[in-house]
Amino acid sequence: MAGRYYSEPGDKIVARDPVTVRRYAGWTRLNHWFTAATLILLALSGFALFTPSLFWLTGLFGGGQATRWVHPFIGIGLFFSFMLLFVQLVRLNILRREDLVWLRNLDDLVKGQEHNLPELGKYNFGQKTVFWAMFFLIVILIVSGVMMWYQFFPDLVSVETRRIAIWVHSISAVLIMLTLILHIFAALWTRGTLSAMTRGTVSGGWAWRHHRKWLRELAGRQGSDTAK
Ligand code: HEM
Repeated sequence: MAGRYYSEPGDKIVARDPVTVRRYAGWTRLNHWFTAATLILLALSGFALFTPSLFWLTGLFGGGQATRWVHPFIGIGLFFSFMLLFVQLVRLNILRREDLVWLRNLDDLVKGQEHNLPELGKYNFGQKTVFWAMFFLIVILIVSGVMMWYQFFPDLVSVETRRIAIWVHSISAVLIMLTLILHIFAALWTRGTLSAMTRGTVSGGWAWRHHRKWLRELAGRQGSDTAK
C-alpha cells in the first residue's frame, strides 16, 4: 500500500515544539509490558525449578509445588501475549536489502558514525534479529514445555522424547535470557529509545538519526494529507 512501506498507520509526526513522533499506541505498549512481565516471571520460576541453588526463588510463588504448577500457565500467557505483539509488528520486521548493508558496516555504528550507514525504516537489523529470535525461541519453549507438562499431558510423548524436550527447553530458556539482555542493553544504549515503549513517542531527532526512512515516509504521508 502506498505510504505504508516503512511505517504503520498509527505512526505520526506530532508538530509541537520540540517535534515528537508517535511510535506505539497505548495498547501495543500494554501488550509489550505484559509480555515482558510474563517472561521475567517465567525466568524466576523456571530458574527456581532448574537448580537447587536457586530453589529459594520458589518463595516468590508460594513454595515449590505452587511454582511447578504456575510456571506452565505463565508460559501460556507469554505465548499468547507475544503472538498478539507479533501480528502487530511482523510486517516491518521482515528483512530488507538495506539491513544487510547496515550489518556489513556495523563498525560505523560502534564508532558513532551512523551517518555512514544506509537510511532505515522503523527497525534496524539488530531489532529485527531480536524480534525473530524471540519468536522462534517462544515457539520452541511452548512446544517443548507442553511435552514436559506431565500433569496435563502424561501420555503425550515417550519418556525418551520428554528427556530431549527438557534439554531443548533449558537451552532455549538460556538463549531467550541472553536475547532479552541484548534487547534491554540496546534499548538503554541507544539514548532516547525507552520513551518509545513508555510514552509511545520518540523525539524527531531520534527518528531522523536512527530510522530516517520511517520518518521521511511519515512526513510524506502527512504532507499529502494537508495538501488534500
Ligand atoms: C523488561 C525489559 C524490557 C525493556 C526495557 C524493553 C524495552 C523496549 C523498548 C524501549 C522498545 C522500543 C524499541 C523501538 O521501537 O525502537 C521495545 C520494543 C520491543 N520489545 Fe521490548 N523491552 C523489554 C522486554 C521485552 C520482552 C520480554 C519482549 C518479548 C519477549 C520484548 C519484545 C519487544 C518487541 C517485539 C519490540 C518491538 C521491536 C521490534 O518489533 O523489532 N521486549 N522494547
